[in-house]
Amino acid sequence: MIKKGIILAGGYGTRMSPLTKAVNKQLLPIYDKPLIFYPLSILMLAGIKNILIVVNKGQLNQFKKILQNGKRIGINISYIEQSKPRGLPDAFILGEKFIGKDKVAMVLGDNFFYGQSLTKKLKDCVKLNTGCKILVHPVVRPELYGIANIKKGKKIVSIKEKPKNSKSNLAITGLYFFDNKVIEYSKALRPSKRNELEIVDLLNKYRKKNSLRAEFLGRGGAWLDTGSMEDYYNTSIFVSSLENRQGLKIACLEEIALNYNWINRNKIKESINFYGNCNYSNYLKKLIK
Ligand code: G1P
Repeated sequence: MIKKGIILAGGYGTRMSPLTKAVNKQLLPIYDKPLIFYPLSILMLAGIKNILIVVNKGQLNQFKKILQNGKRIGINISYIEQSKPRGLPDAFILGEKFIGKDKVAMVLGDNFFYGQSLTKKLKDCVKLNTGCKILVHPVVRPELYGIANIKKGKKIVSIKEKPKNSKSNLAITGLYFFDNKVIEYSKALRPSKRNELEIVDLLNKYRKKNSLRAEFLGRGGAWLDTGSMEDYYNTSIFVSSLENRQGLKIACLEEIALNYNWINRNKIKESINFYGNCNYSNYLKKLIK
């Protein structure tokens, strides 16, 4: 069972400058909450309570101000600073101590997932025994993502980062589940032409050992990312459309923790005080009425 998770919240968010000049991208709003609430909610829905957040050097306090050590939402959050972006697998080198001898999930801080059977899927993924599991979902523009070529059910025949001409439209989403070999494999990676450790090189190590499996998010699932300004606003619109129609919040961390019995009503009251008088607090008040 995977009980630990890493959120990658580093990077300079250059495509969204000047918004990201002073504030980390993962703290910008997606409708009514900071972006990081959404990937964090994914790890929580998977049942993961031990979480390491990788942040840019100098931005630690921005994150601590809102998430603190996680106790208020029933989880343990620790942080590690990355002096400069060295690629996604660097998280497993920086996080070696945190991972210890365990398995680990990783979610990219700008990824958004939604869907009816998502929680069940996540709970299946954390049952991983050995190897690596990735989640794939179709996209219209394969050239923007890591792409998997899959044959006969779940066998991955090849994976490529941002291929120019791809036959496959199956993108590798920013949610990964690894066994403990991920540390050893990440350390053995060499930087690519753009001088970063590449996630596809790491995944290829698993693939060559025949221990990479793909899970389909499925048609009823939504995967959005917030890479560009347009994607970013579309994600906000998606959240606001659903929340305002149904009156149910997406990625309300306190609600997930309460449903999983990780916190009680008193902790929710603590959060209401912490956030102050706002719509988010009004929603929390309704939860404990
Ligand atoms: C990264 C990964 C890519 C993956 C994507 C998902 O790309 O390198 O394989 O498909 O995240 O969001 P980036 O967003 O850094 O361009």
